[in-house]
Amino acid sequence: MTAVPAFDDTRAPGPRHVAIIMDGNGRWAKRRHMPRVLGHQRGVEAVRRTVRAAAELGLSALTLYAFSTENWRRPEDEVSALMGLLKHFILSDLDEFARNNIRLKVIGNIGAFAPDIIEMIEQARDRTAANTGMIMAVALNYGSQDEIARAARAAAAKGAITPETISAELDTADLPPLDMIIRTSGEVRLSNFLMWQAAYAEMLFLDVLWPDFGKDHLEAAIAEYTRRERRFGGR
Ligand code: IPE
Ligand code: IPE
Ligand code: MG
Repeated sequence: MTAVPAFDDTRAPGPRHVAIIMDGNGRWAKRRHMPRVLGHQRGVEAVRRTVRAAAELGLSALTLYAFSTENWRRPEDEVSALMGLLKHFILSDLDEFARNNIRLKVIGNIGAFAPDIIEMIEQARDRTAANTGMIMAVALNYGSQDEIARAARAAAAKGAITPETISAELDTADLPPLDMIIRTSGEVRLSNFLMWQAAYAEMLFLDVLWPDFGKDHLEAAIAEYTRRERRFGGR
């Protein structure tokens, strides 16, 4: 009788929680001699494709970096175009999420947004709160340093500051552990995204610009993840 190979539990079958730094909208537009906002518009289409694909591929959570605490440094017209696209996206796509059992979540400090946007976000969150399928977490006015500082303050107010008590206060506390971070556009940096959660996440940096990202890229990323050996410091 042939021996049954030992189960290799360091090779998880697939990621549960994937996060994406959706970068390269501006360069996508620039290459086509188009205004940056068109790149952002096409970026929203890539978000749609990716959310659908992630749900189809069986992810438990997909976290998308949409607006960083540093993105306020961009020209006012670009910031307001991004806010407009966010509103439009919620209006046009919320029904589909609600129908498809997707739960919408926001990470970051949305208190800095205009009241009408805050209200729309809260309504979208409430409307999908009972959904039990994939969680789509959108990072808005999100920065890891801000998140960790807020979490540390909250942990301190309750007692001890430890890795566990800080983790429990992070915006991502109710999400599965982060398995993989993907960044598009060829840049190889985190840009203040999920720095705490990335401690043992697999990283994948792709040369594709975000508006060109689609299901094939996500499938290839998941396949790459399954080939990696996660060790978590053990051996
Ligand atoms: C990412 O694309 C979208 C946001 C940061 C909101 P960019 O606008 O950063 O595109 P590049 O990096 O200039 O190409
Ligand atoms: C990171 O991209 C933020 C988002 C994708 C929302 P940036 O384009 O803002 O990052 P840097 O400035 O190149 O590091
Ligand atoms: Mg960029």
